Amino acid sequence: MAPPNVIVTRRLHFNAAHRVHNPAMSDEENRRTFGKCNNPNWHGHNYILDVSVRGVVDERTGYVIDLSRVKQIVEERVVSKVDHRNLNLEVDFMHGVIPTTENVVVAFWRELEPALKPAQLTRLVLWETVNNYVEYDGR
Ligand code: NI
Repeated sequence: MAPPNVIVTRRLHFNAAHRVHNPAMSDEENRRTFGKCNNPNWHGHNYILDVSVRGVVDERTGYVIDLSRVKQIVEERVVSKVDHRNLNLEVDFMHGVIPTTENVVVAFWRELEPALKPAQLTRLVLWETVNNYVEYDGR
């Protein structure tokens, strides 16, 4: 039998401001499309990020990966750059990207996937509110 392959997840929190606005669209169309998230004076969210890594359970440790190591990498690569920041203005890897939750999760993946190797990033779930979340598996 193949060794068991298990998905483990670390949850992290951050707060960030943004404005969802497409400069290629008129102000009216932006307001109609993005509603409250188009507020010109920004607004914030309390985001939750779930980072899932898949791998074989190590026989010696019983771990797929030490989750404190996952936390350390995610904090260094992503959370420290976005926490208490403006996603439109202050985050190098978000420049030119409309900061919808979808676009944020894809940008996070690009930062995290190489940094977590040899562990295999398998899923990111980003909660923008208690009611709305997006997930991404790299496809
Ligand atoms: Ni918003």
